[in-house]
This record gives sequence, structure tokens and C-alpha cells, in this order.
Amino acid sequence: MEKLIVHGGAPLKGRINISGSKNSSLPILAATLLTKDTCTIRRVPDLSDTNYMVRILGELGAEVERASGVVVVKAEKIKSVAPYDLVRKMRASICVLGPLTGRLKKCQVSLPGGCVIGDRPVDLHLKGLEALGAQVTVDGGDISVNAKKGFKGGQMNLMGKHGSTVLGTDNVMMAAVLAKGTTIIEGAAAEPEVEDLANFLIKMGAKIQGAGTNRIVIEGVKELHGAEHTVIPDRIEAGTFLVAGAMLGDGVTLKRVMPEHMKSVTDAMIKCGFPLEITKDSITVRPNPNAKGFDLTTLCYPGFPTDMQAQFCALACVINDSSSITETIFPQRFMHAAEMKRMGANIEIQNATARIRGGAKLKGAPVMASDLRASAALVLAGLVAEGSTEIKRLYHIDRGYEHLDDKLAALGARVERAQDRS
Ligand code: EPZ
Repeated sequence: MEKLIVHGGAPLKGRINISGSKNSSLPILAATLLTKDTCTIRRVPDLSDTNYMVRILGELGAEVERASGVVVVKAEKIKSVAPYDLVRKMRASICVLGPLTGRLKKCQVSLPGGCVIGDRPVDLHLKGLEALGAQVTVDGGDISVNAKKGFKGGQMNLMGKHGSTVLGTDNVMMAAVLAKGTTIIEGAAAEPEVEDLANFLIKMGAKIQGAGTNRIVIEGVKELHGAEHTVIPDRIEAGTFLVAGAMLGDGVTLKRVMPEHMKSVTDAMIKCGFPLEITKDSITVRPNPNAKGFDLTTLCYPGFPTDMQAQFCALACVINDSSSITETIFPQRFMHAAEMKRMGANIEIQNATARIRGGAKLKGAPVMASDLRASAALVLAGLVAEGSTEIKRLYHIDRGYEHLDDKLAALGARVERAQDRS
């Protein structure tokens, strides 16, 4: 078990390249199961989650080669069962459900287990597949889909209590591209990662309109062919480094970003008073000791992303003012708050709203990572804290941030990986 030790106070300065998107790579890798031809996916970040998806493709029978960000997949013959042992380690494995249904018209995928960020049902995914004429049963922890008879285009709404579902939209889209006739997805997720998946599917020969909006129309085709694709930059990794650069230092520049995907985050930072220089593929940020607090609410895209909520809680700690952030997507997603309190943060959680009184100096402490974005927030808090912060369960960070410690060190941070013997 590894931990990350962050020695606080070292000013950040310089430029880094942002990696390809984790949340784009995962469904796009799964989509390669839709064809027997070769697919080449570029800029796939080196993360335990993408490594895991590559392993799942291999276990399902695909030939997979991987070298420095390029993944080549040939899913000539594939199996229709994705067992618990394979799926349990990563919730996003659920996104093989759509491609297996689309290609084989029959599959069995284990139901994903619990998640610390909150209740994460897949009812909308299943509702979507049923609207395509598939018979869906859930039994013994497994989802069984049989679409041998009457698999055809249909209409459904994927808007749930907490907004549209991202992977649900991906799954239904990946099934519908090979369904006879027209499918209309209302209440679709409009995230850039959904649009990126659609662009890859279109390169494979799919007929899709409206991806990136809340209404997607798909015209089924007989089969898909191989294609090449470069995934979009990771807007959440970029947002995390933007917050780091606003918290301390003397100017951090992010290269290889798509600022248009980050507007809700950059707008929020500009409103607080953090100076941003934005070009077509870079953003430079500096701290502002007189920055103002914020009142934010997480929403589906293009609203403020839930995956940036924890990082903004850390940012609020250095703003000499009061801030609040309400979490509407995963109302219990505040595992970072108790750990930040251990570092002296003045943060209260009430009814899915965090209220932070910033300005007090944080102090380094041993803290526990609980999930990907919560652990990123603890790293950010450690960067500004007095003394050293030990973040245990580093594997949470390695799931979604490519070489985070190297990138931070390149900006001047004093961070080190260490064995956690405790
Ligand atoms: C994706 O998860 C992302 N993961 C998450 O990022 C992100 O937090 C989330 O979208 C929201 O933006 C990947 O892309 C791999 P949802 P997903 O289905 O698709 C409820 C990270 O940090 N819901 O959009 O699993 C659900 O409980 C991760 O990188 C239903 O009720 O999330 C939640 O409240 C964490 N029924 C809301 O919808 C369903 O069938 C949004 O979930 C599906 C979801």
C-alpha cells in the first residue's frame, strides 16, 4: 500500500501538459467491442482504471496491445459474460453492457457493487435497453440481457432524480447503433465525454445526431468497422491543476486543454477574482490573496461538475471569505470534509451543502483517501498546509490522475510516494 507525502508551502510555477480524459477513454475502449475490426485509440491515460478496462477487453476475448498512450484493440471473437470478479473492481466496467448487447444481442454483466460517493443504481441503463426491445433481468447480482428477438430502435428518457446519466447514455447509445430503426434518447447526458464517444462511433460508421445535447437521435446500421480516434483532454484533471495554481505559487499554465469544456469551472474562478489567461488550448492561472468566496451548485454538464466539488472545497479554504457548494448529483459525496477538518479546515456539511469559512492556515496531518476526487482535494489542501500531509491509500489517486506526483513536482511541489507500513 502506498501513500503520498505532501510537504506544504512550496510555490507552484511553470507549465504542464494535461492528459487524455479517463471518462472518455473508458467508454471508448468498451466501444471497440462493437466491431471485429481493429481500432486504435490514442492519448489513453496511464491509469489503473484504463489498465483495468484493457484487462476486461482481453478477458472478453479481444486482442489488445498498448504502448505509451496508444491502445490497439481487435475484438474479432468475444464472450458475452462479464463476471463479478472482473466488474467488481471498477464501476465503469458497466459500460461493456451496451456494446455486448449491441453486438451479440445477448449478454450477462455483473451488477456493480457499492460506492463511497453514494447510491449509484443502474435502473436508467436497463430502462434504456428495454426500450430497445431487450428483455432484461437482474438476478443473483447479475444483469442478463436478451435482445435476440425484436431488438429495434426505440424512444426513452434517461433523466433521473439526480439528472441525466452519463454512462447510461453511453450504454444505450452503444447498443442502439446496431439496432434496426431509429432511437431517440431524451434527457440524454450532454457531457463532452458522451460527445467524444459519439464521434468515435461515427468514425466506426454509426449514424448519430445531437450528441453533446440532451436529445440524441441514432439510426441503426447493420455493422460497424474499425477506426482511429484521439480522446479529448481530461477537463477534471485540468480543473484540479487550475485550483492548485490558484491556491499558491506564481503562475501555472495548463497545455493541451479544451477550455470550452471547462467554462463552468473557469467562470467560477474568474467570478472569485482569480486571473485566468485563456487561449484555444491553454489556461494560465495565478493566486489572488483578495479573492472572494463562491456559492456553487453541482449540476449536469454544462453546469458545475460534481467531479470538481471536492477540489473547490479545498480552494475555499484559502479564500479569506465564506463559500458554499451544494451537491445535487451525489448528495453524500463529502468524504473529504472530515479529513480536511483534521487539517484545521472550517467546513460544515448540512443537507448536501458544504459551508466553508476560509482564511485559517491549514496544518499537515495524516489523512485517508476515500475516493478519487476526495483524495485530489486532500493533495490540494496538503500543498498549502503548514508541515507535511500523509495521504494514505494512494491507489485512489492512481485510478484517475496520470503521474500526479511527477506533474506536481514539475511545478515545484515537494511531494513523494512512500510505502505505507502502518
Ligand atoms: C460518470 O459516472 C463519471 N464516471 C463520474 O465520474 C461522474 O461523477 C458522473 O458521471 C456524473 O458526472 C465516468 O464517466 C466513468 P451518472 P456515472 O450515471 O455515469 C443517478 C470520477 O470522479 N443514476 O451520470 O456512473 C446516480 O446515482 C467519476 O471520475 C440513477 O439514478 O454517473 C447519480 O446520482 C466519479 N440511475 C446520477 O444519476 C441510473 O441508472 C448521475 O450518475 C444511473 C445513474
